[in-house]
Parts: sequence; structure tokens; C-alpha cells
Amino acid sequence: MSLLVVQNLIKNYTNGTLVTEVLKDISFNIEEGDFMMIIGSSGSGKTTLLNCISGLEKITGGIVKLNDKNLANIKEKEMAHLRRKNIGFVFQAYNLLPNLTLYENVAIASIIAGNENKDRILELLEKFNLLEFKDYFPDQVSGGMQQRCAIVRSLINDPEIIFADEPTGNLDSVSSKEVMENFAFLHKTYNKTIVMVTHSLDNLKYANRYIRIIDGKIVEDIRLLDE
Ligand SMILES: Nc1ncnc2c1ncn2[C@@H]1O[C@H](COP(=O)(O)OP(=O)(O)OP(=O)(O)O)[C@@H](O)[C@H]1O
Ligand SMILES: [Mg+2]
Repeated sequence: MSLLVVQNLIKNYTNGTLVTEVLKDISFNIEEGDFMMIIGSSGSGKTTLLNCISGLEKITGGIVKLNDKNLANIKEKEMAHLRRKNIGFVFQAYNLLPNLTLYENVAIASIIAGNENKDRILELLEKFNLLEFKDYFPDQVSGGMQQRCAIVRSLINDPEIIFADEPTGNLDSVSSKEVMENFAFLHKTYNKTIVMVTHSLDNLKYANRYIRIIDGKIVEDIRLLDE
């Protein structure tokens, strides 16, 4: 069984009488352990697609199933639970809380999910070379470190799938490489399933698969031979 099933997905935005058709009949499956990139030009619908398949946005038509659960049918409470426990998110702008330290930013995600485990938080911070900065606030460390902290936060509840929207979009090339290597590590060592929107074709080398979107439609769905 595929981890994520997307069938005939349609997404329109409606503003008054204006209907914008953004996603047009999109279908694909994601298998456990896939590291899939979504590429396409600006405005093609990448973020909308990521938000629809991760349950952040309501879909207009079609089916999105995570672990055989139809996201369109589940109740708000169950969706919130799923988002806390089964899904990790990493955004371009890191989205760390500025008044919390790096440690606390990770801890709060596990506290909300009801399973704070100090040792695991410290262990992960160490794996991502953040341990000595754990008591720093986000604005006291580099963008690359903030994004690595966001990766640790996304990972802390051991999600089945991690969604990332242009996680290297704000980073210089050295930090981008580090962050991409962190994702590759998650994929290879923890066998995490990752779906990532990216502008950089250079990043494709870290993935085992990509889809290309033009104007809300999939025009390529390619499995890469070796990672
Ligand atoms: N809330 C909204 N209401 C109306 N139209 C929207 C809304 N959000 C996105 N769109 C439109 O949907 C289309 C796709 O937007 P989306 O943000 O998914 O593109 P993208 O591929 O992620 O672009 P970028 O590479 O610039 O991030 C665009 O034409 C955008 O204007
Ligand atoms: Mg986008």
C-alpha cells in the first residue's frame, strides 16, 4: 500500500465570483521511503499542491489519502492529531518561535504532542550539530542553523512523512548544501519519506524521484536511478 495516494486532485481558489483553477487533475502515489521533489516555475502550483497533500488546505475535488485515511473526510480534531504526530513540516522561513531557544523550539513540538523526551531532543540536536547552540535564540544563530533546528523540530515526533516547501530558499549555497545533506541523511539513515518543493534543480541529486508541474498539471513524473 502506498503511504500517500493522490487521485484526480483539483484545487480552485474562489474570490467572489472569480474562480482560479490552480491544480488540475493531479494523480500520483508516494511510497514509504521516497524522497520526492516537486519542481516547476513560480506560480505553477507547487506550494498549493504541497499544502493540499499535507492537509493544510482543503481540496476542491479528488482524493488525498495518507495511510489509507482520506484527508477530505477526517474531522478537524483528527487532522490536528495527524499533523502533530504523523506529519512534519519544514518551511522556507524556518518558522521558529523567536522568544524560545533552539531547544525550546524543538521541545514545544513534543510537548504539544504529549511526549516530551529530553534525551531524544538532546540526541537529535547533537546529530544535527546544534547541541552547543541549544540555549541560543533563533536570531543569534545563522539561517542554516535555524533551518536545521526546524528539521529537528519536524522530526521530533517521529512523523511518517515530512513536507518541506523550499527549505533552502533563504539560504546561501554552503548552508543550502548542509541542509540538503541533512535531508539526505534523514532519507537514507532513518528511511524517512520526504516531499520537497524546490526551485533548485541542483537539489534533484538528493532525491529518488521528482514531479514537474506546469500550470497546475504534472508534466513529468520521474524515478531517478540511483541516489
Ligand atoms: N489563496 C489564494 N487565492 C487565490 N489564488 C491563489 C491563492 N494561493 C495561490 N494562488 C494562486 O495559485 C497559483 C499557484 O500558486 P502557488 O503559490 O502554489 O505557486 P508556486 O508554484 O508555489 O509558486 P512559487 O514558486 O512562487 O512559490 C498562483 O497563480 C497563485 O496566484
Ligand atoms: Mg511556492
